[in-house]
Amino acid sequence: MQDKVYIVTGGSRGFGLAIAKALVEQGARVGLVSRNQSGLDAAVAEIGSDHAFAVATDVAHKQGLQAAFTAIKNHFTRLDGLVNNAGMARPNAVENLVEEEVLLQVNTNFLGTVFACQAVIPLLRGAQNPRIINISSASAWHYDEMSHLSIYAATKAAVERFTRDLRLELQPDGIGVTCVRPGGAWTSFADGWEAQPFKAGLDAWHDSGTYMDTGMEVANVADAVAYSLLQPPGVAVDLLEIRPNIPTPKVSL
Ligand SMILES: NC(=O)c1ccc[n+]([C@@H]2O[C@H](COP(=O)([O-])OP(=O)(O)OC[C@H]3O[C@@H](n4cnc5c(N)ncnc54)[C@H](OP(=O)(O)O)[C@@H]3O)[C@@H](O)[C@H]2O)c1
Repeated sequence: MQDKVYIVTGGSRGFGLAIAKALVEQGARVGLVSRNQSGLDAAVAEIGSDHAFAVATDVAHKQGLQAAFTAIKNHFTRLDGLVNNAGMARPNAVENLVEEEVLLQVNTNFLGTVFACQAVIPLLRGAQNPRIINISSASAWHYDEMSHLSIYAATKAAVERFTRDLRLELQPDGIGVTCVRPGGAWTSFADGWEAQPFKAGLDAWHDSGTYMDTGMEVANVADAVAYSLLQPPGVAVDLLEIRPNIPTPKVSL
């Protein structure tokens, strides 16, 4: 990965920051994208400004992404790949979901991934062994995840289906496309969740008799992304699911 340049959306914290740090440890440089400048500034300070450069934008806005990705490529004078990691969830029962919550999840998780891929494809053509990694979620396919995440899980299932077609479309360009599907790891993911619908989701999950493994480290997800980026030309990990393997008790609020 020496001197390669990868963009990581949602790179200011959680999985994104861990991914950025793992890539830099292997010699790469990273362009970080998220909405809040203060979070990006802190991430750049942690990684070091020689290896990290950040542009604030919302992945739900295609023009902002195009400008941010171009600025990152210009800054480092090259671009080798994109990790579409920015994402969010708003747990709620379907009946109680308000339009704003639905749109926020669809626009960030699904359309944000689509727009970012559209923005990056022309910037990656001609690079040596370019890569796109789309981050999904175990909740897209496994029913033992927390309840009341229907829209979130559906957006991630949409990302996975979209990624399969993108993989085929970009084969002639030599751009490798991978879906990484992580299970649970503690991050700031639930920080903005409202207490009442969060509790209702947890209660329903408790009643359902299923369990969700948690306790994986963010570094494990970062390693899965690095492994996918490191494949040789002509080979691409298709779908990589990584999940915790420790039974953990259900948490209550
Ligand atoms: N944590 C888990 O257990 C888990 C499991 C499976 C999959 N995932 C997926 O992994 C990814 C990262 O999750 P995480 O747990 O690291 O979440 P997190 O700690 O909440 O971090 C989310 C990151 O995305 C950025 N972001 C959110 N909305 C954005 C938007 N509209 N435009 C640009 N940036 C945005 C945030 O920065 P700003 O707020 O400043 O924009 C932040 O950098 C997500 O796609 C999530 O669905 C997480």
